[in-house]
Amino acid sequence: MKKFAILLALPLIAVACGGSDTPTVDTAAIQAGKAIFNSMGCVACHGETGMGDGAAAAALNPKPRQYSDATWQDSVTDEQIKKVILEGGAANGLSPLMPPNPGLKDKADDLDKVVTYIRSLKK
Ligand code: HEC
Repeated sequence: MKKFAILLALPLIAVACGGSDTPTVDTAAIQAGKAIFNSMGCVACHGETGMGDGAAAAALNPKPRQYSDATWQDSVTDEQIKKVILEGGAANGLSPLMPPNPGLKDKADDLDKVVTYIRSLKK
C-alpha cells in the first residue's frame, strides 16, 4: 500500500515541479545538448540514452561507460568531461577510440549543453 501511494505521488510531484518558475533542470539545454550529441555522431558509440550501446559500440573495447552510473558522475568534474570531449580519450588516459572534438573549442556554449545532457542521464 505504501508503495502504491508513492507511485501515485510521483506524477503529482513531477507536475508540480514542471509548473515552477524556477526549474532546477534546464530542459531546453538538455534537449539542445542531446541534439548536438546526436548530430556530432557521439550517439553512434554512446547510444541513444548514453548507455554505451550505440551501433558502433559493438566493436569497441573498452565500451563507452554508462552515463547513468552515479558513481562515475560523482567522480568527474564538468571540466574533466569537457577535456575528454575536446582532447579525446588518448590524451586523457582513456581509450584512443574516444575521438577528440577540437571543433567544439570555439563553441563553449555547445560544449556546456552536451555536458548538461550527459549530466541529465545520471540515475
Ligand atoms: C567512435 C566511438 C565514439 C564516438 C564517436 C564518441 N565517443 Fe566518447 N567515448 C568512446 C569510448 C570508447 C569511450 C571510453 C573510453 C575509456 O573508458 O577508456 C568514450 C568516453 C567518453 C567520455 C568520458 C567518459 C569517462 O569515462 O570519463 C565522454 C565524456 C565522451 N566519451 C563523450 C563523447 C562525446 C560528447 C562525443 C561526441 C562529440 C563522443 N564521446 C563521441 C567512444 C566514442
